[in-house]
Amino acid sequence: MAPPRLRILATGGTIAGEADPASDGARYRAGVRPVEALLAAVPGLDGVAHLDAEQVLSLDSKDMSPDGWLHLLSAARRALADAQVDGLVILHGTDTLEETAYFLHLALPAGKPVVLTGAMRPADHPEADGPANLRAAVALAASAGAADKGVLVVMNARAHGARHLRKARTTGLDAFEADQPWTTARPDGRFANLATTILPRVDILPGYAGAPAMLIDACVADGARGLVLALTGHGSVPTAWEPALQRAREQGVAVLRASRCAGPVIRNGNADDDGAGWLTAGDLPPPKARVALMLALAAGWDAATLQARLPGF
Ligand code: SIN
Repeated sequence: MAPPRLRILATGGTIAGEADPASDGARYRAGVRPVEALLAAVPGLDGVAHLDAEQVLSLDSKDMSPDGWLHLLSAARRALADAQVDGLVILHGTDTLEETAYFLHLALPAGKPVVLTGAMRPADHPEADGPANLRAAVALAASAGAADKGVLVVMNARAHGARHLRKARTTGLDAFEADQPWTTARPDGRFANLATTILPRVDILPGYAGAPAMLIDACVADGARGLVLALTGHGSVPTAWEPALQRAREQGVAVLRASRCAGPVIRNGNADDDGAGWLTAGDLPPPKARVALMLALAAGWDAATLQARLPGF
């Protein structure tokens, strides 16, 4: 059987990083090396799959933006629609990897494997992890079992489904974890037909002791169309926030209760969500609830549809 044909989409990250000469070796810059150089550092890859590559972005993923997601989405959709492409491997910084992976999980069609990977050490590190991660991602994308799992992520020889993955540690090669095995992952793609050139702005507001309500008014005044509240405990809304949240709702801004703990946030559990017109996130963590809300607002879902469907994401 002919080896599968995979497209590599590169976006930057530490996997493409190099020491920053200005820092005397103390720091590195992400997203410097071009994808061709990253592929050249992994001999024998072309024995696993026929590869072609596209440099879609070159950034440190802390600077990934909704526009960057849409740009990557259109490159990924184009590739998946190409009969000459059997699957995708996407190179990405680890900092926002889980957000991008989940965005693509919701917005790409199911059917062909899509695997993201990155690295915790830059490409010029003597023990760089990028080459092994790239090799593992290509091997997974070339395998039959990866096609019906939605978007997958490989790091440090372990695969994870996009829905349940998170970056859990700032250092070390084993930086990612998931609360479910990748083998149980299912494709999503509910926004695979969404054609949009803009994602509505949704901000995340953290709950903490003394968190000021003025942040809510500031986000709304600055153009937010949705607010994800990353709240304490069960998703507990500070009493002092309630007037500002009511003002936000009166202006049509979607308000979604999520928790900074592992979920779930139970609808009408410790707040009158129906009365206040708030959405609840179920067990979606705040960064992923934000992605889901952005896509749902872009698709024009009304409040009832949002609440009926969001906890099922
Ligand atoms: C980034 O997210 O682009 C930098 C950090 C990393 O890739 O580990």
